[in-house]
Amino acid sequence: MLAGSHPTGRLLESGEQRGGAAQEERFTRKKHESRFPVHAVRYCLESAGLKPNELDAAVFYEKPFLKFERLLENYLALAPRGLRSFRLALPLWIREKLFQRDLLCRELEAVWPDGGWASRLLFAEHHQSHAASAFFPSPFEEALVLTMDGVGEWTTTSVALGSGNQIEIIREIRYPHSLGLLYSAFTYYTGFKVNSGEYKVMGLAPYGQPRYAQAIFDHLVDLKPDGSFRLNLEYFDYCTGLTMTNARFSELFGGPPRKPEERLTQRHMDLAASVQAVLEETVLRMTGSLAAETGARNLCIAGGVGLNCVANGKVLRTGRFENLWIQPAAGDAGGAVGAALAAYHIHKSQPRHRAGLLDGMKGAYLGPSFSPDEVERRLTKAGAKFTIYSDSELLYHTVAALVDGKAVGWFQGRMEFGPRALGNRSILGDARSPTMQSLLNLKVKFRESFRPFAPSVLREDIQDWFELDVDSPYMLLVGDVQERRRIATTAEQQKLFGIEKLNVPRSEIPAVTHVDYSARVQTVHAGTNPRYHALISAFKAKTGCPVIVNTSFNIRGEPIVCTPEDAFRCFMGTEVEVLVVENCFLRKEEQDQAFRRDYRQDFDLD
Ligand SMILES: [Fe+2]
Repeated sequence: MLAGSHPTGRLLESGEQRGGAAQEERFTRKKHESRFPVHAVRYCLESAGLKPNELDAAVFYEKPFLKFERLLENYLALAPRGLRSFRLALPLWIREKLFQRDLLCRELEAVWPDGGWASRLLFAEHHQSHAASAFFPSPFEEALVLTMDGVGEWTTTSVALGSGNQIEIIREIRYPHSLGLLYSAFTYYTGFKVNSGEYKVMGLAPYGQPRYAQAIFDHLVDLKPDGSFRLNLEYFDYCTGLTMTNARFSELFGGPPRKPEERLTQRHMDLAASVQAVLEETVLRMTGSLAAETGARNLCIAGGVGLNCVANGKVLRTGRFENLWIQPAAGDAGGAVGAALAAYHIHKSQPRHRAGLLDGMKGAYLGPSFSPDEVERRLTKAGAKFTIYSDSELLYHTVAALVDGKAVGWFQGRMEFGPRALGNRSILGDARSPTMQSLLNLKVKFRESFRPFAPSVLREDIQDWFELDVDSPYMLLVGDVQERRRIATTAEQQKLFGIEKLNVPRSEIPAVTHVDYSARVQTVHAGTNPRYHALISAFKAKTGCPVIVNTSFNIRGEPIVCTPEDAFRCFMGTEVEVLVVENCFLRKEEQDQAFRRDYRQDFDLD
C-alpha cells in the first residue's frame, strides 16, 4: 500500500511483509504538503520492490465529482448567502479537483512515463476509505465499523458492518451535520488552527468545567437517544462564509473568537471541556445504541474524530464492546491505506489474511529505514561525530543518559505511518522527572504547552501503572494513572492556573500525567518493536520504572524526521543532548558547534 498527503494507493496483501506507507510531508519537509506525493509513491514502489507497470491499480481516496456536487448543492440551497466562499473555491475546483483523474494521470506519467495509468486508476469514496482503513487491518474477522470526521464527499459519519473481505455501510449522517466540524468550530473559536489544533482543545479540556455543554445541546446540537444528531446551522458559518462560527455563536458563548496570540482564560478552558463533553456524550450514545442494535462485540474506528483518544478511552471503559481497534492513521492520510485495501478486497475480491502481529498495521512501522552502513555514511557526510556501540552497549549508554535527565533522540528501524511517533522517530526522556515536561517543551520543542507528554510503557506492565489493561500500541487510548502511583495535590496547588497547575507533580511519573491524572498511553510490544521494548526493559531494570516519555522527533512547525540527516539537523538545532541513530551514538558536546542552528529564529512560539 502507499500513501501521500493526497493519497493514492497500491494494493498490498495484508500478510505481506513488503510494501509500505508514508506521507509526502516527511520527504519534502513541508508540513501538510499538498503537492502530488511523488516521493511517497517512489518510496512505496521501492519498498515493495515493484515497478509501476507491475501494479494492478492505483487508488485515490475520494471521489472529486461527488465532493463538487456537495459544494454546488450547498451553494444553491443557501444562495445568495454563500456566494463569497463559493466564488473563492470555484476556480480551484474547476482547475484541479474536477479533473483529478487527468491530473493524477499526468503527474504519474511525468515521473513514470508510459505507465498506462488511466486504465488502472480507481477512486474510492472518502468514508469507504476510512472504513476500509479501520476494518481490513484490524485483528477482527467481523466488526462494527464507525467513521467520523469533518466531511468527505457528503458523509460525515458512517456506520458499517465488516465481515471477511467485505464492508457494508448501513447508516450515514451527511453534511452539514458533522461532529468533526462541530469540534473544529470550537477549535476555531478558542483560537487554535482548524484541522490541527483539535488535539490542543482535547488537551485543554481537563483544565475546564463543561459549563457550556447544556447550552451546546440546547442551541447547537440536537442529539437523539440513538446518538444521531443534527446541528443548528444558524450558529455556524462554514456553509456560507469563510470562518467556522458567526456572530450568533459569539453572542451565545460570551464574546468574539480568541485570537491565536491572546491569553487563554478559564472561559476558553471551560469551552474546551464543554465541546469535549458533548463529543463524548454523542460518541457514547452512538456506540451504545449500535452495540445494542447489532450485538457486535468488536468495534473499529477511523476518521479524524478517531484521534480523540479521550473519547476512545471512554468508549472502551463502557464495556459495550469487548474489543476496540482504531486505525493509527485515523485522519485522511490513512485514507490511502483504506483506499488501497478497499480496491484489493472489495473491487478485486481478494481474501483477507489475518495478521500475525497485533494487526495489519504491524505497529505502523511502514516507512523508510536505513541500513547500518547507510546511517554511518550519511552521518559522516553530514559532519556528525559518533561512536558505534554494540546493541548492549547502546542500551547501557542510552539508559544512563535518560537516568541522567537528558533528552535523547531515538531513531531506529522504519519510520511510523500516522501522526504519532511510536518509538522509531522519537525524543525520549525520564517520565519520573518533575522537570522533564518543561525542559522538553522549552529546550526541544520551543513552545509552552498545557499538554503533558505521552508515556511509552511495556505492554506487560501497563496495569501496574495505568488503569488500563488492553493493547494501545498507537497512543489512541487515554487511561488514568493508577491510584497508588498518584500524589495528592494540596488545596493551595489546586488554585494554580494553566501550566503552573501541570508543573505540580501529581504522580510518580509527572512528565506524562495530565491535571486530571489521565495519560495518552502507548503500549510497547516485543513482537512489533523489539528494540524499543529492550530499551524500556533496560530502563526498568535500572530504575524499577517501565515508563518513559515519548514525544515526536521534530520541533514545532516541522514534520517528524525521516532520514538520519533530518535527525542530526534537529539534534543540532535543539537542546537534545544525545542522539541515537541505529547503533551510532552522538553526544552533543562532541559535535562541531558550527552545525548548531537556532531554530527559534525560524518559528513563531506559542
Ligand atoms: Fe476524512
